[in-house]
Amino acid sequence: RLAELNGLVRGSLRIAAVTTAEYFVPDLIGPFAAAHPGVEIEFAVENRDGVVARLQRGIDDMAVMMMPPEDLPLDRQPFLDNPLVVIAPAGHRLAGRRLRLSSLAGERWLMREPGSGTRMAAERHFAELGFEPKVAMSLGSNEAIKHAVAAGLGIALLSMVAVRPPVGRAAATTAEGLEILKVSGFPLRRRWSVVWRRDRPLTIAARRFIEHLSAARELRAPRGARA
Ligand code: PGA
Repeated sequence: RLAELNGLVRGSLRIAAVTTAEYFVPDLIGPFAAAHPGVEIEFAVENRDGVVARLQRGIDDMAVMMMPPEDLPLDRQPFLDNPLVVIAPAGHRLAGRRLRLSSLAGERWLMREPGSGTRMAAERHFAELGFEPKVAMSLGSNEAIKHAVAAGLGIALLSMVAVRPPVGRAAATTAEGLEILKVSGFPLRRRWSVVWRRDRPLTIAARRFIEHLSAARELRAPRGARA
């Protein structure tokens, strides 16, 4: 019966997500799309600034992000942990040792571009601790950071999901050429939320997808999120 009803839902579903969410939102869309063949889905991926701009303009039915803006009329539902880890090239001299953040002051840090939520989270946290990293370079994507770190250009704070596949996917290994450093106080515990404009009605498809996300959260928590 439910399958029949789902099959009757028609319309479009526009989802925006920050770049860290591109590693798992498609997995969550998959079964939803299969169960709702009448719903046409558009999935946009941007950095935090880009997603906030889309929310301002009311382009999407919902957005998946870590730090929803406080100055927009949004409802939110937190749904997955997003641990942020310090990564270094495999075989880094500090790999495997227990470290304090202060011992990483002399390292070259690679940061995401201005406008990135990952960068904002890193900067806020470092500022709270009075830690001043030596920033060597900004890079415009998680993948560019991973490659630059693997190539030995520096270390970085990145969402764990960019470095390790979520539970249920392949092996529990860290992406090639990378290592997660054991830094006290890390992983930084952050969360993704799904947010939507409170001042606009949710479509049936959007409501269904939000329910689908909350049902999926326990199953698909990224590795390390449930430590
Ligand atoms: P980013 O955002 O893709 O802009 O780094 C991550 C986030 O805000 O969760």
